[in-house]
Parts: sequence; structure tokens; C-alpha cells
Amino acid sequence: MMIREARAEDFAELYALDQACFAPGISWSKAELGYFLKYPRNFALVAEAEPGQIAGFAIAGTLRRSGVLLGRLITIDIRREMRRRRVGGALLHAVEERLRAAGAAALLLEVAVDNESAQAFYKRHGFARMGRIRGYYLGRIDALTMEKQL
Ligand SMILES: CC(C)(COP(=O)(O)OP(=O)(O)OC[C@H]1O[C@@H](n2cnc3c(N)ncnc32)[C@H](O)[C@@H]1OP(=O)(O)O)[C@@H](O)C(=O)NCCC(=O)NCCS
Repeated sequence: MMIREARAEDFAELYALDQACFAPGISWSKAELGYFLKYPRNFALVAEAEPGQIAGFAIAGTLRRSGVLLGRLITIDIRREMRRRRVGGALLHAVEERLRAAGAAALLLEVAVDNESAQAFYKRHGFARMGRIRGYYLGRIDALTMEKQL
């Protein structure tokens, strides 16, 4: 498995992968994906199982809250047939390393209350549940907020 920076030419594949990972309305439009990829405080990493074959990707960024630098995991998307093979774990690890090196104190994320597999994945990787945001997705699905100290 190789983890590398996402490149402009990955865009179509990342978009298709995000569409395949999430329900309509929750998956991003091309404009939204483009925004998250280009936002200056964000970075995007791609996992290749075989050279040239994208197995998954993650987008994360940093923010400052009360003077403290924090990381935020914006998404992590693994191709369905590649799940439960530690691709997500490898990408999350690379994201954490990158944020730690930047001086981030913790990593924050939101996950849909009905996304049990992602919640299990984050728990397995040491995230604790912090709170709940009502109607975060489509105005009707709550999000759980989770956090991990880096
Ligand atoms: C959640 C997701 C990123 C996990 O990626 P993955 O590559 O399959 O995860 P890994 O193989 O690294 O899993 C590591 C551990 O996490 C836990 N885990 C992962 N998927 C799980 C599932 N479906 N059910 C229960 N536990 C799970 C397990 O403890 C697993 O270890 P094990 O396989 O030895 O039991 C992947 O399922 C995915 O892309 N889902 C769709 C997109 C999504 O919901 N992203 C999160 C948005 S908030």
C-alpha cells in the first residue's frame, strides 16, 4: 500500500468514489469536493493498493480554536471491495502523523448517527464520542462529534 498526496488528475476518481460511498445528498457535488480539496488549510491523501489503483482517500485540515491548533477529518472514503483490509487505518494513521507534525493537539470529526461501521472504525482507532449535532446531514440526520488527542 502506498499513501501519497492527491493530485489534480485524481479528481474524477475521487468524485466517483465519494458518490459510491455516500447516499445522494450526503455525497458531495463536484463543487463541494473541489472546495475541500483546494481549501488552503486542507490536505488530501490517496491510498494506492496497486500502482495507479486508488483504494481510498482522506481529506483533513486544521483549524484554530481558542488559540489551540486542531485537526479536522473531513472525509475518509474506501472503495467497497477494499474495506476491512486496513486501507482506512493506514490513511487515518498518515493523516494523524501529518497533523501531529503540524502541531495539532487533537483530531475532530463528525459522523452520521446511522453510520455504524464508521463509528466502529473510529472507536477502534481511539476516538471518543463528544457530542451530537441535530440535523447535521440533510437537516434530518444527526451527527456524532468524536475526538482523539494527538
Ligand atoms: C469506515 C471506513 C473508512 C473504514 O475503512 P476500512 O479500510 O474498511 O477500515 P480498516 O480495514 O482499516 O478497519 C480497521 C478496524 O475498524 C473497525 N471497522 C472497520 N469497518 C467496520 C465495520 N464495517 N464494522 C465494524 N467494525 C469495523 C474494525 O475494528 C476493523 O478491524 P477488523 O477488520 O480487524 O475487525 C470504510 O468502511 C468506508 O469508507 N466507509 C464508507 C465511507 C464512510 O462512511 N466514511 C466515514 C465518514 S465519517
